[in-house]
Amino acid sequence: MKVLVTGHRGFIGTVMVPMLLEEGFEVTGLDTDLYRYCTYGDEPLAVPTIAKDVRQVEPRDIEGFDAIVHLAALSNDPLGNINPDLTYDINHRASVRLAEIAKAVGVDRFLFASSCSMYGKAGEDVLDETAEFNPVTPYAKSKVYVERDVSQLADRHFSPVFLRNATAYGVSPRIRFDLVINNLVAWAYTTGKILLKSDGTPWRPLVHIEDITQAVICALRADKPVIHNLAVNVGSNSENYQMRELAQFVKETVPNCEVEYAEDAGPDPRSYKVNFDKIHSVFPDFKTRWTARMGVEQCYESYRRFGLSKDDYEGIRYKRIAHITNLIEQGKLSRDLFWQ
Ligand SMILES: NC(=O)c1ccc[n+]([C@@H]2O[C@H](COP(=O)([O-])OP(=O)(O)OC[C@H]3O[C@@H](n4cnc5c(N)ncnc54)[C@H](O)[C@@H]3O)[C@@H](O)[C@H]2O)c1
Repeated sequence: MKVLVTGHRGFIGTVMVPMLLEEGFEVTGLDTDLYRYCTYGDEPLAVPTIAKDVRQVEPRDIEGFDAIVHLAALSNDPLGNINPDLTYDINHRASVRLAEIAKAVGVDRFLFASSCSMYGKAGEDVLDETAEFNPVTPYAKSKVYVERDVSQLADRHFSPVFLRNATAYGVSPRIRFDLVINNLVAWAYTTGKILLKSDGTPWRPLVHIEDITQAVICALRADKPVIHNLAVNVGSNSENYQMRELAQFVKETVPNCEVEYAEDAGPDPRSYKVNFDKIHSVFPDFKTRWTARMGVEQCYESYRRFGLSKDDYEGIRYKRIAHITNLIEQGKLSRDLFWQ
């Protein structure tokens, strides 16, 4: 099966691509490689690549593929907040256009990396796929708009599937430190402090990037009617955690560190628990292999081997927003994120 993975040079993509190859998929990537100077450890595996902005994709780029896994996006809230319109351009409008082109050229399986963050504020409810959307940021709103618009394209020649990933974690050649587990462990390892920005009560559903890939593999292999216009949460019921539990795992893993609450720590409104029953009913082979505690251990071991320093962690290399801002200031990227 010939699969095009957009955003294959990012945090998730660089772990997903080798796993897809191992499972026998023929993979091509499409990415503008915004984080080309941000490699952590070994370089990502090279695969045939269309080095292109997703906003400029043409029909001939995607003709002949059996499926698209669409990961390319501005992937975090602060990045989305610097210029919300850019987030809507790349994450929403370009995704819908990509889906339209895919449909026009006969690529009938379109997997979209959606996010549980579209549920937004939820309090104590456990949210399943029928829950109301309450997106708080342009990033989360962009995911809602893509699902709304791309689901309209579904017909007997085009089957989109919306994989609503929980908050990801894990080690990757394009690591991100802005994700809660990766962040707490990095901070603890480099400063001896586990810094909680809330009072520790908010809930978050978590999922390892390899388990996200397992869901993608299931969606690539499933019969068309199973995935047709499907929206499904990706994660596991047992992997909803309160921040203070995660802090405890970090304390038990990283030697000599203490939990510290930020001065203005209060209950974070973005607290939500997610129900993951549906993914098990639609993909009987899907099973998460990771737990948050294992993720904490994986990050700790990796930072130790790498010798991660506070400067590495705080510098612009691994901070998506600081890195992009710096590339713009140097004139390497235009304000709308095209390479110059
Ligand atoms: N990491 C998470 O917690 C999480 C959770 C839910 C959903 N997702 C989604 O999964 C996808 C991948 O996330 P990630 O963590 O790997 O993000 P990332 O920022 O690490 O990678 C995104 C990749 O997309 C590329 N890209 C960005 N804009 C592009 C453009 N205009 N044209 C071509 N390529 C472009 C970047 O160069 C990068 O390689 C995103 O859609 C994200 O919203 C991530």
